[in-house]
Amino acid sequence: MTTYRLQVNGKVHAVDQDADTPLLYVLRNDLELNGAKFGCGLGQCGSCTVLLDGKPAMSCMVPVSVVGQRPVRTVESLGNATTPGMLQQAFIDEQAAQCGYCIAGMLMQATALLEKTPAPTDAQIRAHMSSNLCRCGTHMRILRAVRRAANTLAAKGKP
Ligand code: FES
Ligand code: FES
Repeated sequence: MTTYRLQVNGKVHAVDQDADTPLLYVLRNDLELNGAKFGCGLGQCGSCTVLLDGKPAMSCMVPVSVVGQRPVRTVESLGNATTPGMLQQAFIDEQAAQCGYCIAGMLMQATALLEKTPAPTDAQIRAHMSSNLCRCGTHMRILRAVRRAANTLAAKGKP
């Protein structure tokens, strides 16, 4: 085992882990950040998506040893049940979750899009979100929620 110092949601955490332990396991098991979900474990569904240095990463495929000093952000950084963040509120308003299993990954994927492209076209939203799967089939509501969040950003006049 090795001690890794990870920057997660603005805090530094020291964790003792084997080098090849997936970041997803560290987040869930060591840091008790259970938002990111284990779906396929194969980099194919996106339920484990977090931001690594501001870019979406499937955390089931990222060994803890390669994270280094790059900041990690999980869905817990966006808000909580009493004070949802802007994107979370948009998902609530569009009732974009059924079972909710994919939603943390969807939210982080959408966060990456809106931070880079605050006024995306519908085609850009579709293309960007296409790596994340929803087994409940709420894709249309999810797309509407991302559109709603982009409209909210546009109304504020700034990202
Ligand atoms: S659990 Fe990571 S991509 Fe499916
Ligand atoms: S809401 Fe159930 S998997 Fe997407």
